[in-house]
Amino acid sequence: SRKYQPFPQVDLPDRQWPARTITAPPRWLSTDLRDGNQSIIDPMDSVKKNRFFDLLVEVGVKEIEVGFPAAGQTEFDFISGLVKSDRIPDDVVIQVLTQSREDLIKRSFESLQGAREAIVHLYNAVSPAWRDIVFRMSREDVKQIAIKGAQLLVDEAAKQPGTKWHFQYSPETFSTAELDFSLEVCEAVMKVVGPSKDWPLIINLPATVEAATPNIYADQIEYFCRNLPNRDAAVISLHTHNDRGTGVAAAELGMMAGADRVEGCLFGNGERTGNCCLVTVAMNMYTQGVDPQLDFSNIDKVIETVEYCNQLPVHPRHPYGGELVFTAFSGSHQDAIKKGFEAQHGRNDELWRVPYLPIDPADLGRSYEAVIRVNSQSGKGGFAWVLEQTQGLKLPKKMQADFSRHVQKMADEQSRELNAEDIWQCFREAYFIGN
Ligand code: KIV
Ligand code: ZN
Repeated sequence: SRKYQPFPQVDLPDRQWPARTITAPPRWLSTDLRDGNQSIIDPMDSVKKNRFFDLLVEVGVKEIEVGFPAAGQTEFDFISGLVKSDRIPDDVVIQVLTQSREDLIKRSFESLQGAREAIVHLYNAVSPAWRDIVFRMSREDVKQIAIKGAQLLVDEAAKQPGTKWHFQYSPETFSTAELDFSLEVCEAVMKVVGPSKDWPLIINLPATVEAATPNIYADQIEYFCRNLPNRDAAVISLHTHNDRGTGVAAAELGMMAGADRVEGCLFGNGERTGNCCLVTVAMNMYTQGVDPQLDFSNIDKVIETVEYCNQLPVHPRHPYGGELVFTAFSGSHQDAIKKGFEAQHGRNDELWRVPYLPIDPADLGRSYEAVIRVNSQSGKGGFAWVLEQTQGLKLPKKMQADFSRHVQKMADEQSRELNAEDIWQCFREAYFIGN
């Protein structure tokens, strides 16, 4: 595939150099079937969940949160059915979520009976607002909830020795909690679980509601990573939401701050404004020359499945996937892109350098055809390119200027985008050419 420019370097004399960059992919976890599913108007049935699961496997996601088995019979049946199916490849691990309650934890383990390998994800909220308003509990009470839950994980796992168990703990509302308290709770959970470098505890640090600029979240992650005793026995995971519109940025800065793993959803589905978009984080890495180890080379197929399963459209301007993101209407952009394609033509091994296009659309399985489209904002470069591509007609420069008046008139009169057929018709009418 194409070569892309590594992260641009900026020389700031008062800063340590080089600046931090992302140089390797994180561990990815998709929570489309859990955080994503719990946020949509019509939650997925098992047919849709299976289809989404297969897509995630195809894309290359190795850790997939498949639901909250104790939340209801549909969830439970889907998960226990999945475990018994042959859908889960050997290198893919499923994860289930549970609150820290004995009945819910037991039910979660029940749903996973017979699993080869699984992650059980325990969570409880730790921030002052939740402690004071939702639970009316002291710090110590909240810590004890986590400790009791962790002990139950250990006990229940011991009853099913045929499964390779992993545990994940989330201090929910981490980003709005006191850092010393989150550390204290996570340390207590680690003491109960007894993780090691070879069998680490996944500590997932959620921005449950995004409440600050992304650098603040990254500072919290860095502080946590630096101050967690036995850091080697933990996988630090990020779980960002998008309430301020910076869920992706927070995940990226969080990786640079020392985290190992990123949780999110395809195209940013998830509670409220969504989780961080895994497609965007992955493709951002790709366009800077870092292989994300997720395959979005057939983005249209991914979109089709995601839209069908979530019953929500992907926004036309969504980075990398949106219908309009490889389209330019304005004349100067069209001209620059056309020149870029000409310069790039046939040079697959060369650095990608087409103006206004951060990525070769072909790397996402898109064609160049949709790149240049024509409306009343377009310049002569655009429609000349369309005529050349569709009719093999290369207009001389002077004729382009003349024809441009006709095209603009047609676009203004019709107040809409002109397709290749419209442009050809306009040309025939302007220069009295018969059918
Ligand atoms: O946003 C959140 O805090 C969550 C947790 C359950 C991890 O989804
Ligand atoms: Zn969440």
